[in-house]
Amino acid sequence: MRIDIVSVVPEIFKGPFSSSIIQRAINKGIMDIHIHDLRKYGLGKRKKVDDYPYGGGGGMVFRIEPVYQCFDKLLSERNYDEKIFMTPDGILFSQKYANTLTCKKNLIILCGRYKGIDQRIRDHLISKEISIGPYVLSGGELPAAVVVETIARLLPGVLHNPNSMITDSFQMEKRGAHPIYTRPKIYKGWAVPKILLSGHHKKIKEWICQKSIQKKLDS
Ligand code: ADE
Repeated sequence: MRIDIVSVVPEIFKGPFSSSIIQRAINKGIMDIHIHDLRKYGLGKRKKVDDYPYGGGGGMVFRIEPVYQCFDKLLSERNYDEKIFMTPDGILFSQKYANTLTCKKNLIILCGRYKGIDQRIRDHLISKEISIGPYVLSGGELPAAVVVETIARLLPGVLHNPNSMITDSFQMEKRGAHPIYTRPKIYKGWAVPKILLSGHHKKIKEWICQKSIQKKLDS
């Protein structure tokens, strides 16, 4: 799967993309990620990508030309299944939607900044608008990293233990996550439930099932 990310602060991705799951997906050739600095397509000597909004109001707005030029170049090289814009007023990102994205071959993700982007970008260049939650961040870069990591761990061959993906709490549609424990058996008097140490697999399975249902009912 190829993902092209368009951003004015490409350096943000160095951290999240250079370790753990995403790094593994890249190293294994399962994910091919290309980060594009929108400023390269900026206007004039100063490579301007933003301007004042028509009609007034504070804040700067992404101009359409740099985004158009960047998208035009990418679209001339291959077809894209989705051209996503990360924005707090987009549709709420979910595990279900991440699952559907894993079937795609090529994605573009545009990260917004400032007050917003010229509406014509949304109307003519973007196919999906995604929010990672009902709060406003300074830009779409961290949300884009969230989306990429969520997809990466679903792609076959990325996780060492694919079972952990299946048992993720959000993958378990009807149940919540059951409580999990590791060593030590007792810490400061807080003990691991005896049933988990019993070695009685059937009873342990029942306990896990019961706790998962309880968690779901409580949520
Ligand atoms: N950009 C700023 N805030 C965002 C959010 N919550 N989701 C997606 N993109 C954003």
